[in-house]
Amino acid sequence: MEIKRIAVIGAGAMGHGIAQLAAMSGFDVTMRDISKEFLEEGLKKIRWSIGKFVEKGKISPSEAEKTLKRIRPLVSLKEAVEEAHFIIEAIPEKLELKKQVFKEIDSYAPSHAILATNTSALPITEIAAATNRPENAIGMHFFNPPALMRLVEIVMGEKTSEETCRVTMDLTKNIGKEPVLCRKDIPGFIANRITITGTNLVAWMVHKGEYTIEEVDAAAMYKVGMPMGTFALLDFTGLDIAYHVMTFMEEREPNFEVSPLIKEKMEKGEIGVKAGKGFYTYPEKGKWVMPQISEDKARKFDPMTQTYVMVNVAAELIRNEIATPEDIDKTLKLGFNMPIGVLELADTLGIDVIVTELKKIEAGYGELYKPSPLLEEMVRTEQLGTKTGKGFYSYEK
Ligand SMILES: NC(=O)c1ccc[n+]([C@@H]2O[C@H](COP(=O)([O-])OP(=O)(O)OC[C@H]3O[C@@H](n4cnc5c(N)ncnc54)[C@H](O)[C@@H]3O)[C@@H](O)[C@H]2O)c1
Repeated sequence: MEIKRIAVIGAGAMGHGIAQLAAMSGFDVTMRDISKEFLEEGLKKIRWSIGKFVEKGKISPSEAEKTLKRIRPLVSLKEAVEEAHFIIEAIPEKLELKKQVFKEIDSYAPSHAILATNTSALPITEIAAATNRPENAIGMHFFNPPALMRLVEIVMGEKTSEETCRVTMDLTKNIGKEPVLCRKDIPGFIANRITITGTNLVAWMVHKGEYTIEEVDAAAMYKVGMPMGTFALLDFTGLDIAYHVMTFMEEREPNFEVSPLIKEKMEKGEIGVKAGKGFYTYPEKGKWVMPQISEDKARKFDPMTQTYVMVNVAAELIRNEIATPEDIDKTLKLGFNMPIGVLELADTLGIDVIVTELKKIEAGYGELYKPSPLLEEMVRTEQLGTKTGKGFYSYEK
């Protein structure tokens, strides 16, 4: 099936961006929201964004005009999907709502059409099960803002077919994005699963009084030159977003428990910059200033702590054939602007060092941090990274 017409369901923060991308790539797009006002709001943002592309000389005014004409805003769901080849849902992150909308889309869309959801954390399999075509349903996790972020995580539900997967990967490339494939519908997919596990561990360490918030953040800034530490970053992006993924992990993953430090902050509504207070205090709601942390706080904490845990989660994804090392590193580099992939870093640090450190973390914080059998095997077979010429990647000696 050749894909020519794309329907985007929801014209909010993500939906309008995805509709814009598809139109800029030459597809005919229908964009559906529940009222004309929401559609107008979405179109306004698209016009603004396309205007910026014109200003920067990336597209001509006539191309911009044509792009806008390719987007048809609609309130009727039936009209939006009845001729679509590919449908991308970007409505609020509520499981029951998504299931209901998927069921409706299924009843109106052509039988061969693919139904993708942009959910950040909900189970693809359950959303797909609301349709009579779970083999044609898939996760397509764009990053915000879709016009600028290059990464899209493609997530297979239990019944997603290889063909659906292939078409979705191709389409992602055709709209100028870099797909990574997550072969199993696991909580957090690739990106959030890896990063959130590390974040939650340091929140446990602070909760237990091993380190302070400033000590963790200072080490990241002054020892490895990160622009911001973990807690400052949580404040910046909003703790509610991380918490949302963490609670899904807690519900669905044995041994994963959200740190009480995070829960307390959520209960108090101290969710970061947008609340005026999070782990740090800001001058007013929505006004960000860089928290001031002195360099002498950097001494105590090992800023690689999260890396050890992230490598362990990544190793389990590889061992269970859920993601490849290349896709994992691509995810972290493109999704979180990391200068180096976590597995490239692991090879430099040494897999033996990582296993030793993980055992220490496991002793203090439990089973979740037990070194992956893959890492143990790599140590046994001397695949320790750059120093032995082979780790997650091969190196010429
Ligand atoms: N915002 C992000 O950073 C981000 C990043 C990746 C993924 N996501 C995911 O994308 C999805 C959308 O998030 P968002 O931030 O764009 O939300 P949003 O609240 O900005 O937009 C949602 C839009 O959907 C509309 N809507 C509600 N019910 C609808 C229906 N039945 N049919 C059509 N439209 C409907 C709303 O009116 C609203 O305009 C969520 O699943 C979210 O988890 C968000």
